[in-house]
Order: sequence, then C-alpha cells, then structure tokens
Amino acid sequence: MDLGIKGRVALVAASSQGIGLATAEAFAAEGCRVAMCARNDRTLQAAAEKIRRQHSAEVYAEAFDVTDPAAVSRFVAAVASKFGSVDICVTNAGGPPAKGFLTALLEDWKKAIDANFLSSVYFAHEVIPHMQRKKWGRIITITSITTKQPVTDLVLSNAVRAAVVGLVKSLANEFGKDGILVNNVGPGFTATDRLKELAKARAATTGKSEQEFLDAWAADAPVKRLGDPREVAETIVWLASERASYVTGQTVLVDGGMYKGL
Ligand SMILES: NC(=O)c1ccc[n+]([C@@H]2O[C@H](COP(=O)([O-])OP(=O)(O)OC[C@H]3O[C@@H](n4cnc5c(N)ncnc54)[C@H](OP(=O)(O)O)[C@@H]3O)[C@@H](O)[C@H]2O)c1
Repeated sequence: MDLGIKGRVALVAASSQGIGLATAEAFAAEGCRVAMCARNDRTLQAAAEKIRRQHSAEVYAEAFDVTDPAAVSRFVAAVASKFGSVDICVTNAGGPPAKGFLTALLEDWKKAIDANFLSSVYFAHEVIPHMQRKKWGRIITITSITTKQPVTDLVLSNAVRAAVVGLVKSLANEFGKDGILVNNVGPGFTATDRLKELAKARAATTGKSEQEFLDAWAADAPVKRLGDPREVAETIVWLASERASYVTGQTVLVDGGMYKGL
C-alpha cells in the first residue's frame, strides 16, 4: 500500500530510543525527511546517523528538553528552515515515574504536566501555522493506554494523559478545516527501556522480580506478549498517511487488546 507521504517532513519528538526512535525510523522508511530530538546529544546523534545510513534519509537531529517552550520554538523554526515546512508532528516525552497518589509529590505533578501535556501544547502551537499554510498537516500525540484504562500506581499518567486527549479533540475540531488531522496513539505495555524501568520500580517495592512483572503484563494482553515499538510506530505512520485522511480526533490504542472496555 502506498501511504502517500514520501518527501513529507516528519518531526518526531523524544526519539533517540524506544517508541520515538521506532517512529522516526518508520517515517524514514516511507521516504520522509525526519527531524528528531532528545536531551542526550550523543545517543540522539548516534540514532540519527543509524537512520541516515539504513534509509538514505535526510535527518535533522537536535538535543534539547521538550519541556522548554523556547527550545521547541527554535527547533521547529530550524526544521522549517532546513526542510521548508513541518508536515507531520509526533509529540512524545519520557513517561512519569510509577507512583501512587500519596507518594506523588507536587513536583512530580508539575514535571508530568510539563513533559506529558504542555510539551504537546508547545509543539502544536509552533507547527500549526506551517500546516495551515500548506492546508495539510498531521499531529499525533503519543500517550498511553492510561487514557482509556487507569494503570495501578501510574496516577501521574492516568490523570495527566487525559488532558492530552482533550487537547487532541479540541485541535481536531478547530483545525480540520485547514486540512490538519490530529490523533492520539496510546501504547499498551511495549518492550522499551521505559517498561524495564517500570518493572524495576515495581520489583523494588514487592517481593517479585522484574521478569515476573514483564511476564504478567504480557499475559494481561489477549495476544499474550508485550508490544514491539515498531508496532506502535507503524500505527502512527498510518495515521499520518493519506490512507487515514478521514480519521481525526481519535485515540487509537496499540495494546494487544489489553483495554478491557467496549
Ligand atoms: N513502553 C511502554 O510500555 C509504554 C506504555 C504506555 C505509554 N508509554 C509512553 O510512551 C512514551 C515513550 O515511551 P518509551 O517506552 O519509548 O520511552 P523510553 O524508552 O524511556 O524513551 C524515551 C525517549 O524520550 C526522550 N526524552 C525523555 N524525556 C525527554 C525530554 N524531556 N525532552 C526530550 N526528550 C526526552 C529520551 O531521550 P533522553 O533521555 O536523552 O531525553 C528517549 O529518547 C512515554 O511517554 C511513555 O510513558 C510507554
């Protein structure tokens, strides 16, 4: 199937590893020009170089923190200057720590809001004018299954991700007339460093091993395994494609069926 996005400029935030990296790779494989970011420059540049080599893709990579609105603004301007525009923007950041309500400090809430909500606001604010000019655009937020089904001891994610869904629906309503489609992708338990960290945190407070948690999460999905970051990435690329041209304002879970609701 031709996804129709060859030559498009795809910005993927927080993309030096895990789901973000898999998404940047998937856009490069479709012939997109790719912009990447993360805080650690060395890891980021190594990831960017690998994508250049494997896909002969044009890749622009810059290290900064997505919780800094001025840095987001500078980055989007640099990408537009280098590639001419920003057609596709995938917002992403590291997930908040695993905590119950009484152990989450006010500082944890503020950090989660900055990274997992406001960073999407910053990117949307900067990319929408570019997309309006071309009357074409795609914004896809990466959140979590927690947007549909709270996960125990992830109160920060359970609460803060819901705001992203409200943002996505609002942007979809406001900018559909400009040819801009806005959707949200919620991964289930996906085999990345983030998941290993969560298993480690759980193991530290229980008598169980990290592997027992990973096995239990895999068993909770009807497909009986963890997700692969590429499976999330391919859903994101499809949503960004011409083949999803009448899909907007939606949350799509990539969770192996783990969400128990209808
Ligand atoms: N893996 C799962 O099972 C799962 C399930 C549901 C939801 N999610 C969510 O999906 C998102 C991605 O997860 P993942 O598993 O791919 O995470 P990951 O493996 O921890 O990767 C996070 C990436 O984001 C970058 N990053 C983190 N904070 C950043 C910041 N403030 N500014 C710029 N870059 C930043 C990291 O690089 P630097 O550290 O160098 O900045 C890294 O490249 C997270 O929000 C996570 O909570 C994951």
